[in-house]
Amino acid sequence: MSLILYQIILCLTLVPSVASFMAQSEAHALLAWKRSLNSIQYQSYLDSWNNSVTSPCLWVGITCNKAHRVSEINLELVGLKGTLDNFSFQSFPHLTQLILSNNRIYGAIPSDIGFLYNLTILELSGNDISGTVPPSFTNLTNLARLDLSKNRISGEVDTLFSLFNNGISFIHLASNNLTGHLPSSIGRYANLEDLDLSYNQINGSIPGEIGELENLTILDLSNNILKGSIPHELTKLQNLIRLRVSNNQLTSPVPHLRILSLNELWMSRNRLDGPIPSELNELWNLSMLDLSNNLFNNSIPSWLSNLTFLTYLDLGGNQIDGYIPPEMGNLVYLRQLMLSKNKLSGPIPKSLSNLGNLQNLSLSNNQISGSIPSEIGNQLPNLLNMDLSSNQLDGEIPQTLGKCSKLNYLDLSTNNLSGPIPANFKNLNQLGKLNLSYNLLSGEVPFSSTDMPGLYSIDFSYNNFDIQFHPLTSFSPTAFIGNGRRNVSIAAIKHPSNLNIGKTEVAAFVVAVPVALTVFLVIVFAALVVISVLHKRPKKREEENEVLIEMRKADLFSVWNNDGKILFDDIVEATGNFDDLFCIGMGGNGSVYEAELPSGQVVAVKKFHPMEDESRLDDAGFMNEIPTLTRVRHRNIVKLYGFCSHPRCMLLVCEYMVRGSLADVLVNDERAMEFDWVKRADAIRGVASALSYMHHDCKPPIVHRDVSCGNVLFDANFKACISDFGMARLLNPDSSNETRVTGTFGYIAPELAYTMRVTEKCDVYSFGVVALEVIMGRYPGEFISTASHSSGGQSMKLKDVLDQRLPIPTDEVAKKIVVAMRVALACVRDNPKSRPTMQQVTIDLSTQNSLSIPDDPFSHDT
Ligand SMILES: *[C@@H]1O[C@H](CO)[C@@H](O)[C@H](O)[C@H]1NC(C)=O
Ligand SMILES: *[C@@H]1O[C@H](CO)[C@@H](O)[C@H](O)[C@H]1NC(C)=O
Ligand SMILES: *[C@@H]1O[C@H](CO)[C@@H](O)[C@H](O)[C@H]1NC(C)=O
Ligand SMILES: *[C@@H]1O[C@H](CO)[C@@H](O)[C@H](O)[C@H]1NC(C)=O
Ligand SMILES: *[C@@H]1O[C@H](CO)[C@@H](O)[C@H](O)[C@H]1NC(C)=O
Ligand SMILES: *[C@@H]1O[C@H](CO)[C@@H](O)[C@H](O)[C@H]1NC(C)=O
Ligand SMILES: *[C@@H]1O[C@H](CO)[C@@H](O)[C@H](O)[C@H]1NC(C)=O
Ligand SMILES: *[C@@H]1O[C@H](CO)[C@@H](O)[C@H](O)[C@H]1NC(C)=O
Ligand SMILES: *[C@@H]1O[C@H](CO)[C@@H](O)[C@H](O)[C@H]1NC(C)=O
Ligand SMILES: *[C@@H]1O[C@H](CO)[C@@H](O)[C@H](O)[C@H]1NC(C)=O
Ligand SMILES: *[C@@H]1O[C@H](CO)[C@@H](O)[C@H](O)[C@H]1NC(C)=O
Repeated sequence: MSLILYQIILCLTLVPSVASFMAQSEAHALLAWKRSLNSIQYQSYLDSWNNSVTSPCLWVGITCNKAHRVSEINLELVGLKGTLDNFSFQSFPHLTQLILSNNRIYGAIPSDIGFLYNLTILELSGNDISGTVPPSFTNLTNLARLDLSKNRISGEVDTLFSLFNNGISFIHLASNNLTGHLPSSIGRYANLEDLDLSYNQINGSIPGEIGELENLTILDLSNNILKGSIPHELTKLQNLIRLRVSNNQLTSPVPHLRILSLNELWMSRNRLDGPIPSELNELWNLSMLDLSNNLFNNSIPSWLSNLTFLTYLDLGGNQIDGYIPPEMGNLVYLRQLMLSKNKLSGPIPKSLSNLGNLQNLSLSNNQISGSIPSEIGNQLPNLLNMDLSSNQLDGEIPQTLGKCSKLNYLDLSTNNLSGPIPANFKNLNQLGKLNLSYNLLSGEVPFSSTDMPGLYSIDFSYNNFDIQFHPLTSFSPTAFIGNGRRNVSIAAIKHPSNLNIGKTEVAAFVVAVPVALTVFLVIVFAALVVISVLHKRPKKREEENEVLIEMRKADLFSVWNNDGKILFDDIVEATGNFDDLFCIGMGGNGSVYEAELPSGQVVAVKKFHPMEDESRLDDAGFMNEIPTLTRVRHRNIVKLYGFCSHPRCMLLVCEYMVRGSLADVLVNDERAMEFDWVKRADAIRGVASALSYMHHDCKPPIVHRDVSCGNVLFDANFKACISDFGMARLLNPDSSNETRVTGTFGYIAPELAYTMRVTEKCDVYSFGVVALEVIMGRYPGEFISTASHSSGGQSMKLKDVLDQRLPIPTDEVAKKIVVAMRVALACVRDNPKSRPTMQQVTIDLSTQNSLSIPDDPFSHDT
C-alpha cells in the first residue's frame, strides 16, 4: 500500500519535473536568444524574460500548451534587433506559431527552421531578412499561413513554391527580391485563399493553371515584370474578391472576366490598349476599378455607369477622349474619381454634383472647357481634394466652392479662369495646399493665414492679383511671382499649353547694376514721371524707340560672349524690339526676355524698369565694383555675357537657364520628382561652392545678400547656379558695411533686423534656408525656429521632414542628405557667430564619409 502510495507520489513528482526540465530547456533557449539580441532595441519589453522566472509560460509574448510547452511565440512590433542564428529551433518541437513581424531582424532564415514540424503560422514580415528560403522548409508540412513580405529575401519563385506543402492557404511574399517565373505547378496548392507576390521581380507570364486555385479570394501579382496577357482561366476564380496586376508589362486583350464576386480590380500601369474592355461590364459588385496609366483609348463607355457600387474609379493617364458622360452622375457611391491625364474634352457635367460622397476629384491635364459648374460646390460637401489643373476652364471660380469646407487640396492652376477669388474662400479652413497659378485671376487675396491654419503650400503666381499687401506674409514671396503686370494678355501668351515647358520658365539673369548710373537713372526717371504725369501714357513706346536709337549711336553697349561680341541689334531683333511675346518673366525691377541670337545661342536678356527704389542710393560705392562683378566666373554662378549701362535702358545679357528657378521646380510635383536626391545633393553643394568662392576667393569678398529659392536657377542638366546680384555688394574691410535691409523676405538673417550690418554670415543663413527648402521640398517656415531651438527637446525624425514626393534616399545619397541637413541647420542658427563659414560648409559637404552617419540614418532623430 505504502509502496503504491510511494509510486504515486513518485509519479506525481517525476512527471512535472520532466515537464519542467523541458520547459527549462525552452527557457534557456529563449534567454540565449535574448542575449544575442541588441538589448538597446527591445529596451525593457523583454524584462519578464529572466532567470528568476523559470517557466517561460509567464513571459511576455509566449503562449504554452496544456503540457506547459511553448506553442506560440508572438513578438510583433516590439523593436527586436538581431538575427535568428542563435534561436534554437530544436528546442521548440511544439511550436505552432512563430510571429516576429515588424522588428529589425536581419540575416538569413536558418536551415534549422525545418525542426518546427508542427508550425502552422510563420510570420516574419517587415524585417530585414535576406538570403534564400532554406530547403528544409519542406519539413514544415503543417504550415498553413506564411508571411515573409517586406524583407530582402531572394531566390527564384518557382524553386520557392516547390518547398510549400499542398495544404497551404495563405502566402504573402510581397516586397522581396524574388525572381524567376510562376511555375505551372502552382495549380496544386488548391487550398490557397490569399496569394500576394507583389513588389518582386517575377518575370514570364501568368500561368493559366492559376485558374485551378478555386478558393482564391485575393490574388496580388502587381509590381513585377510579368508579360503577356491576363489568362482567360482566371475567370474560373469565382471566389475572387481582389485581383491586382498593376505595374507589370501586361498587354491586351483583357479576357472576359465574368467574376461576379470581384470587388477590386487593379490593372494600372501596364500596356493594355484599345477601348476600355466591355468584358468588365458585368462586374456589378465592383467597388474599386483602376485602369490608370495604360494605353486605353476611345471614350468612357456608358456601361460604366451601370457599375453602381463603384467607390473608386481611376482612368487617369490613358488616351481616352470624348466627353465625360453625364451618366457618371449615377455612380453615387464614388469617393474617388480620377480622370486626369487623358484627352477628355467638353464641359464638366453638372450631374457630377450627384456624387455626394465624392472626396477626390481629379480631372487635370485634359482639354476640358467651359466653366466650373456651381452645383459642384453646392452638393459635394465631402470633397477633400480637387484637381482641375491644366485644362481650358474659363469663367469665374464659383462662389459655391467656398462651401466645400472639408477641402484640403485645391488645384485650379493653368486654366483661363478669371475674376476674383470668392470672398467665402476664407471658410475653407481645412485647406492645406492651394494652387491658382497660371490663370487670369485678379483682385485681392480675401483670406489670411489665420483663416486657414493648416495652409502649407500656396501658388498664386502668374495671374493678375493685386498682391502689394497680400495677407499671406508667412509664405515665400515666390508664390506670388508674375503678378501685378500691366498687361493681362501676357498671361495668355505665357500659358504653358501654348509654349513648350522650357520656354515658360523664368530665365536667368545676373544683375550687376552700376549704381552711379542708377542715381542718374532715378533722376531721369523722376523727370520721366513728371513728363508722363503731364502727357499721360501714349508716347511711351515712341520714347523707348528713341532711347534705343540713341543707344546704338552712343555705343554704350558692352556685350561679349565666348566667341566674340553679341551685337546689340541682334538682341533687339531677337526680342522683337522687346515685345511681350518674348517676355519669359517679370520681376519687381524689370522684365526678362528670351533671345535666340543668329548664332543659335539662346540668352536671357533682362531689361530694367527705371528704378524708383531709393535704397540703391545707399550703395553708391558699388559703382567702381562692376568690373569685379563681371569677372566673377564660377561653374555655379550664372554667366554674365554683358550689360548695357545706358541710364534710360539698362540691359543685362546672361546665360539662359532652361529649367527656371528652384522655386519653379519645387512647386511642380512632376519636376520636383525629376529633381531627385542625387541632383538635390549636387545643387546644395553647387550653391555652397559658389558662395564660398564669392566670400573667400574674390578680393575683396562679395556678399550676395539675396540668396533665395527664386535666385537659384537650373540649366538643362539641373546644374544649380546663383543669379541676381542686384543687391550684391563687396565687403570692404574698412567700410562699416552698414546698410538698409534688403533681400527676400523669409531668407533674411534675423540679426539684420537690429544690426543692419551685412556680413558673409547673412548669406550663410539664406543658404541654410535654401538648403532646407531643397531637402524638404517646400519653404521650411517654422521648421527653422523649431529645429534650431529644440536641440534634443522635441526631436523629429529626419525622414518625416524630407520631401515626401521622393522615395527615402538610400546609401551614399542618404549620407549626403543627412550631412546637408546638419549643415543647413547649423547655417540657420540665430547667432551669426555660431554659423559656419561657406568654406566650412563646402568642406563639410564634401567630406561626409569621415563623419559618423548611422547606417540607416532616416530612422534617427534629426
Ligand atoms: C550566437 O551563436 C554563435 C554560434 O552560433 C556564437 O558564436 C555567438 O557568440 C552567439 N552570439 C551571441 C550574441 O550569443
Ligand atoms: C525578473 O522578472 C521578475 C518578474 O517580472 C521581476 O520582478 C524581476 O525584477 C526580474 N529580474 C530581473 C533581474 O530583471
Ligand atoms: C506536434 O505536436 C503534437 C502535439 O502538440 C505532438 O504530439 C507532436 O509530437 C509534435 N510533433 C513533433 C514532430 O514534435
Ligand atoms: C527535416 O526532416 C528530416 C526528416 O523528416 C530530418 O532528418 C531533417 O533533419 C529535417 N531537417 C531539418 C533542417 O530540420
Ligand atoms: C535583388 O536581386 C538581384 C539579382 O537577383 C541583385 O542584383 C540585387 O542586388 C538584389 N537586391 C537587393 C536589394 O537585395
Ligand atoms: C527571368 O528571370 C530569370 C532569373 O532572374 C532569368 O534567368 C530569365 O532570363 C528571365 N526571363 C525573361 C523572359 O526575362
Ligand atoms: C475550398 O474551401 C472549401 C471550404 O473552405 C473546402 O471545402 C474545399 O475543399 C476547398 N477547395 C479546394 C479545392 O481545396
Ligand atoms: C456582391 O456583394 C454582396 C455584398 O458584398 C455579396 O453579398 C454578394 O454575394 C456579391 N455577389 C456575388 C455574385 O458574389
Ligand atoms: C486605339 O488603340 C488601338 C490599339 O492600340 C488602335 O489600334 C486604335 O487605332 C486606337 N484607336 C484610336 C481611335 O486611336
Ligand atoms: C445598364 O443596366 C440596365 C439595367 O440593368 C440595362 O438595361 C442597360 O442595357 C445597361 N446599359 C449598358 C450600357 O450596359
Ligand atoms: C486623393 O487623390 C490623391 C492624388 O490622387 C491621393 O494622394 C489621395 O490619397 C487621395 N485621397 C484620398 C482620401 O484617398
